[in-house]
Amino acid sequence: MLDFIYEYIVKNDFKIKEHLSSDFHDIFLIEDILKNKKLIKYIKGKRRPKIVIKDIYYRLLKQSHKNIISIYDIVEIENDFFIIMEYFEGINLNKYIKQNFYTSINISIFRSIFNDIANTIDFINNIGLMHTDIIGHNILINDMLEIKIIDFDFAIILENENFVNIDVQSFIIMFFQYVNEYNYLNNKYNLYENTNIFNFNNYELEMNSCNTFLNSLDFFNKEFQ
Ligand SMILES: Nc1ncnc2c1ncn2[C@@H]1O[C@H](COP(=O)(O)OP(=O)(O)OP(=O)(O)O)[C@@H](O)[C@H]1O
Ligand SMILES: [Mg+2]
Repeated sequence: MLDFIYEYIVKNDFKIKEHLSSDFHDIFLIEDILKNKKLIKYIKGKRRPKIVIKDIYYRLLKQSHKNIISIYDIVEIENDFFIIMEYFEGINLNKYIKQNFYTSINISIFRSIFNDIANTIDFINNIGLMHTDIIGHNILINDMLEIKIIDFDFAIILENENFVNIDVQSFIIMFFQYVNEYNYLNNKYNLYENTNIFNFNNYELEMNSCNTFLNSLDFFNKEFQ
């Protein structure tokens, strides 16, 4: 397959800037003739059946959302495929939070980040997909606070209404994790006294949208303004 990708790169006059290879994928950072950066991702077959992942990326190809990485193209060769996507210059959310929480987090920034993520996850769920791997590593952010959700390799297509929303659960866990981290690092306990990762069970059972969850948090709406 890599031969086909190299062929594709040459045919399109792309320049390879970087090539990352792991057990699960090959990622090429390329530059096109106009010097626009893009990523080519080839997913190896070890994780999940290709046909399932391909279907998911085709769905994303048809969608456009400012906080979801754009899929530009899917190239199929026999039973295999690779994707060409937008390259987003930023860092992952874990890094961002670590860098900023050590000093002092700006609450309105925190609020804006989580509002954006909530809206995006709700959008993903509304188009019939569940990402299922909502973690800081799969959320990129830049200095302008633009957010992009990446890596839909584990996503699933929702077949019916009766599902446990793993994305909402992951979102809640991530939310409390960062609030706790902030409390711990800043030795402040006034943000939300009882925010504890083990306290999310009630939310986990009741919530089916990230926005519903955020709206249910009085402290988010009041103190976080
Ligand atoms: N569109 C993108 N723009 C910029 N960087 C990206 C993009 N997609 C992926 N990356 C970078 O490459 C890393 C790996 O990509 P991705 O999350 O899609 O694969 P993965 O299978 O989770 O890999 P890993 O297990 O190595 O994290 C990301 O954590 C991110 O740093
Ligand atoms: Mg990832």
